[in-house]
Amino acid sequence: MIVAIDGPSAAGKGTLSRRLAATLGYHHLDTGLLYRAVGARLLATGADPADAEAAAAAARKLGPADIAREGLREEDVGRAASVVAANPAVRAALVEFQRRFAAQPPGAVLDGRDIGTVICPGAEVKLYVVASAEVRARRRHDELRGRGEPATYAAVFRDLQERDARDQARGTAPAKPAEDAIVLDTTDLTADEVFAQAIGIVRSRSS
Ligand code: DC
Repeated sequence: MIVAIDGPSAAGKGTLSRRLAATLGYHHLDTGLLYRAVGARLLATGADPADAEAAAAAARKLGPADIAREGLREEDVGRAASVVAANPAVRAALVEFQRRFAAQPPGAVLDGRDIGTVICPGAEVKLYVVASAEVRARRRHDELRGRGEPATYAAVFRDLQERDARDQARGTAPAKPAEDAIVLDTTDLTADEVFAQAIGIVRSRSS
C-alpha cells in the first residue's frame, strides 16, 4: 500500500504524513529532504546550486549520511533545494531510491511534490494538500520563530511564493495534483481534522 502526499510547502504534508505512517505502521519518507540534501552538499562545497553538472553529481553521490545531516530545514538550504529540484538530472538520480523505499512492506507514506504523478503513479491513495499562501506563510513563520530563527512574515511570504512558482513552473515533474488525487484544503482545518479526513480516505481504500 502506497500513500502519496503532495502539495506546496507548509500546507501540512509533513505533520499529516508522519502521523499517518505512525498510525498505519508504514515507512515514511519526506522526499523534500533528498533535494535539501543535494542543496546542502553544494552549499557546503561552495558550489552554485544552479550549476547543473555539480548538482547532478551531488545527487548521484547522495548517501544516508547526507539525508541525516543537520540544518536541512534551514531557509538557505530550502532555497538551494528548490533550484536543484528543477534540474532533470537531479530528479532522475533520485527516482530509484524513492521507488524502492515506496515498495517496502507493509506500506509507505511518501510526501513531496511529484509522488502521485511521477514517482508512484500507481499509489493506492493520492492526496494533494493545499492551504492559502497567507496561512502557509504564517505557519512557516511561526515554525521558524519557534526554532529561534529570526524571520519576518513578509520575507517568509515572499520566499514561499518564489519557491512555489519555481516548483510549479519547472518543465520536469512540476508540482501539481495527479488527476486521480483528492485535494485536501487545510486552510481552515486543525491538524486533527486533516488527519481524520486523511485516515478515513486511506481506510476506505484499504478495505
Ligand atoms: O518540501 P520541502 O520544502 O522540503 O522541499 C524542498 C524543495 O524540494 C522544494 O522546492 C520542492 C522540492 N521537492 C520536489 O521538487 N519534489 C519532491 N518530491 C519534494 C520536494
